[in-house]
Amino acid sequence: MATTVVGMTTTDTAAGPSPTDDQVGGNEPAQISAGAIAGIVVGGTAAVIAAVVAAALIMYRRRQNRTDIDVSHVVEDAKPVPDGQTHPTAAKQIHEKQAEQEVAEADQDNSAVLRHELSDQSPHHMSLGAERLGLPPYAWWNEALHGVAASPGVSFNQTGGAFSHATSFANTITLAAAFDNDLVYAVADVISTEARAFSNVGLAGLDYWTPNINPYKDPRWGRGHETPGEDPVHIKGYVKALLQGLEGKDKIRKVIATCKHFAAYDLERWQGVVRYRFNAVVTSQDLSEYYLPPFQQCARDSKVGSFMCSYNALNGTPACASTYLMDDILRKHWNWTEHNNYITSDCNAIQDFLPNFHNFSQTPAQAAADAYNAGTDTVCEVPGYPPFTDVIGAYNQSLLSEDIIDRALLRLYEGLIRAGYFDSASPHPYTKIDWSQVNTPKAQALALQSATDGMVLLKNNGILPLNLTGKTVALIGHWANATRQMLGGYSGIPPYYANPVYAATQLNLSFHYAPGPVNQSSPSPNDPWTAPALAAASKADIILYFGGTDLSIAAEDRDRDSIAWPSAQLSLLSSLAQLGKPVIVARLGDQVDDTPLLSNPNISAILWVGYPGQSGGMAVFDIITGKKSPAGRLPVTVYPEGYVNQIPLTEMALRGGRDGMRPGRTYRWYNESVLPFGYGLHYTTFTAKFGVFESLTIDTGELIGGCEERYKDLCPFPQVSVWVSNSGERVSDYVALVFVKGEYGPEPYPLKTLVGYRRIRDIEPGFTGAVPVSVVLGDLARVDLSGNRVLYPGRYTFVLDVGEQLKDEVVIDLVGEEVVLEEFPQPPVKG
Ligand SMILES: *[C@@H]1O[C@H](CO)[C@@H](O)[C@H](O)[C@H]1NC(C)=O
Ligand SMILES: *[C@@H]1O[C@H](CO)[C@@H](O)[C@H](O)[C@H]1NC(C)=O
Ligand SMILES: *[C@@H]1O[C@H](CO)[C@@H](O)[C@H](O)[C@H]1NC(C)=O
Ligand SMILES: *[C@@H]1O[C@H](CO)[C@@H](O)[C@H](O)[C@H]1NC(C)=O
Ligand SMILES: *[C@@H]1O[C@H](CO)[C@@H](O)[C@H](O)[C@H]1NC(C)=O
Ligand SMILES: *[C@@H]1O[C@H](CO)[C@@H](O)[C@H](O)[C@H]1NC(C)=O
Ligand SMILES: *[C@@H]1O[C@H](CO)[C@@H](O)[C@H](O)[C@H]1NC(C)=O
Ligand SMILES: *[C@@H]1O[C@H](CO)[C@@H](O)[C@H](O)[C@H]1NC(C)=O
Ligand SMILES: *[C@@H]1O[C@H](CO)[C@@H](O)[C@H](O)[C@H]1NC(C)=O
Ligand SMILES: *[C@@H]1O[C@H](CO)[C@@H](O)[C@H](O)[C@H]1NC(C)=O
Repeated sequence: MATTVVGMTTTDTAAGPSPTDDQVGGNEPAQISAGAIAGIVVGGTAAVIAAVVAAALIMYRRRQNRTDIDVSHVVEDAKPVPDGQTHPTAAKQIHEKQAEQEVAEADQDNSAVLRHELSDQSPHHMSLGAERLGLPPYAWWNEALHGVAASPGVSFNQTGGAFSHATSFANTITLAAAFDNDLVYAVADVISTEARAFSNVGLAGLDYWTPNINPYKDPRWGRGHETPGEDPVHIKGYVKALLQGLEGKDKIRKVIATCKHFAAYDLERWQGVVRYRFNAVVTSQDLSEYYLPPFQQCARDSKVGSFMCSYNALNGTPACASTYLMDDILRKHWNWTEHNNYITSDCNAIQDFLPNFHNFSQTPAQAAADAYNAGTDTVCEVPGYPPFTDVIGAYNQSLLSEDIIDRALLRLYEGLIRAGYFDSASPHPYTKIDWSQVNTPKAQALALQSATDGMVLLKNNGILPLNLTGKTVALIGHWANATRQMLGGYSGIPPYYANPVYAATQLNLSFHYAPGPVNQSSPSPNDPWTAPALAAASKADIILYFGGTDLSIAAEDRDRDSIAWPSAQLSLLSSLAQLGKPVIVARLGDQVDDTPLLSNPNISAILWVGYPGQSGGMAVFDIITGKKSPAGRLPVTVYPEGYVNQIPLTEMALRGGRDGMRPGRTYRWYNESVLPFGYGLHYTTFTAKFGVFESLTIDTGELIGGCEERYKDLCPFPQVSVWVSNSGERVSDYVALVFVKGEYGPEPYPLKTLVGYRRIRDIEPGFTGAVPVSVVLGDLARVDLSGNRVLYPGRYTFVLDVGEQLKDEVVIDLVGEEVVLEEFPQPPVKG
């Protein structure tokens, strides 16, 4: 594919890598074993402790900033630093310049973070290490949500040469909509390869604060698009594949992933409630059933390297001070006990223990002690928000023991050891990864695929696929000629932005372009967009509208109040529709209530693209023209606009109120969606049914009896298979979604529950085939009021596909005794 390089002004700044590994390998022995560190730390005097703590924890905190920043403050505080004035390494200079460039170019995204970078006069960009121990400086905060991303630990080469960019895949919500674990693995494998390449030249670290896996239960949440969606079984599948790709399968971790935000975090700033203060009130049932399973997958089953504890409190205790979450559940119940497993706090989350936020700890020293004693191992803190976490004070006041400090240091540095950080003298295959493995043709093709495969066709009156040869099209809307807008949150610098205008140019289409509003107030006769848009449309045979939401509407620190289509866009669309020409809508960003477009007969098609990444425009045209057939499915429910008036964002319960006044959440508890979870149209027709079940009556005892799994919830259900047949005319993928429903376990009963999914690729017209869909007992089970996961006897209806696309139902009777698959740790009793 041809590429355009968009973006950076080039300068002649020397762009040397920061010499982390070389420093280690210089005068000191290159290998530092965990034992050596342990010996020094454990055997040391208070002075040594203080020195190491100072080096590794306190300095660290000074620049290990918030991912996760209060934007209003940061923006106010921003004071650009003159180039090169305060920063020690060349790599750092690249970063600063990059940051300025980025801030100038993007007023959204995590530019808040980058602005913040500029405001900090401190030279302590990273953990300074301890020279006499051979510990080099290290920056812990690296990001890679959907590609190596701009963050304090990551630098892009400003000169436009090697390491000036990294592949930017579709953001999480879009990739998740592909419902394809193999694709997720392939993407994550490229991300970690590119991250290693950056790391090997000192432009990035080895730990990454990704993935964000809080279930996306309310459409108003500003960070929902960073997650795989609303369903825990789907998130578990996504996370399992992602972590295999990021961390690799070898003894040395390819990179260290960080599952965040633990736990029950899904609110930014809503009607005066801020995440730094929010106390999530969650029942044991909802915690075990909904909020925790993705984290259980990370810790217990995928054995991820690292976790991040969240800003919010859970039932009165800040997450980063919660021994219940971090010790009883994470470390003990999930057996997340390898030496290299460490917990990072979200940035300034420990300071948020203080009286003006959670009011959990009264002094900075007490806050430090509360965090480390509870099991937080490293404190991320951005400067500019004193008072800081006072580790020295906590030690000095005997609130924090040497043992706990040792424990935190050991976990952190063993994390790096396990990632091969100290192995420069004994290279392993990952140390050989270089720039030639970044932005390869294969990665470019995969980035395009991540977008096409995740797009979801929501409406099609038959116009798609469309042969555009010889047609004139209007390209209208705020992202028709987008750059960073296509990427969403936590992004890096892609090699190019293949936006719709670019794609139309590549396809030699005759087109007329006009921009459009995002969230401007309602149009007036003189607004700057309506007349140009109508002019472009009048010259075209077909109107392609590129609209929807972006990060100016929903983002980190920005929850929505409304989930309606932005009114100015809706007015423009209705004017365009009145022309009577075909209108095809490609909708960016989060879900909005599509009712007005679904019911407008002149809107011919709606394609949801989410945040499609560097090749978003090409991907849209591949779908519109039928080069690829759409097969993505909605990873979230599309709610009617009035939903937000029926339930506050702060409500954590999934089930509706018994009085019927408060609706439930997600497809399991809410039945009046505009479009259901799992929805997605095709260009062809499929018939599908379940294969023959081994037996229609199954004894629960037999299911458990023959199972060797250490954890009973992972015991397999006898194989479920799906037969699918393409009865239409076009090659297409098909996503098999398997749900169960029935009246068993505690009331109320969910409408249905996803228990398995599988994307079947490239099904030719006329072809019929069968694929297995694996289902485990834990996902069939229900969760009782105490949070225990129980397999109940009862009548289970297996359901294939959703809504009007429903394909098949089979009834299975589970007989025998109830079986407790997992006993959930009970919360501490409050005095
Ligand atoms: C950055 O790009 C320049 C060429 O523009 C190149 O000389 C330099 O080596 C690159 N930096 C790294 C770390 O590769
Ligand atoms: C806990 O995990 C460790 C290693 O990760 C393993 O050796 C041990 O058997 C596990 N314990 C239990 C009870 O599963
Ligand atoms: C914070 O907690 C302290 C001690 O529990 C209490 O005295 C104080 O009133 C609380 N402050 C606020 C603002 O609630
Ligand atoms: C430790 O505490 C003593 C008083 O108890 C104080 O004089 C000293 O400054 C403290 N040291 C640090 C590093 O906080
Ligand atoms: C698309 O339309 C052009 C011009 O009408 C025609 O020549 C071409 O065969 C069509 N392509 C397909 C795949 O139908
Ligand atoms: C698209 O935007 C670029 C700048 O990013 C600009 O140079 C180009 O002219 C725009 N294209 C059109 C068709 O307006
Ligand atoms: C567009 O036109 C160029 C030059 O005429 C040609 O090389 C290219 O193959 C065309 N692309 C398509 C998709 O038709
Ligand atoms: C979008 O516009 C609406 C209506 O003017 C307004 O209420 C809302 O606050 C705006 N959202 C943002 C993020 O600016
Ligand atoms: C649809 O288009 C026709 C013209 O073809 C127009 O008369 C009608 O008002 C339009 N309807 C809407 C809802 O825009
Ligand atoms: C949704 O469920 C409620 C309560 O069970 C019922 O009254 C309502 O008719 C249902 N709505 C739909 C669209 O099925």
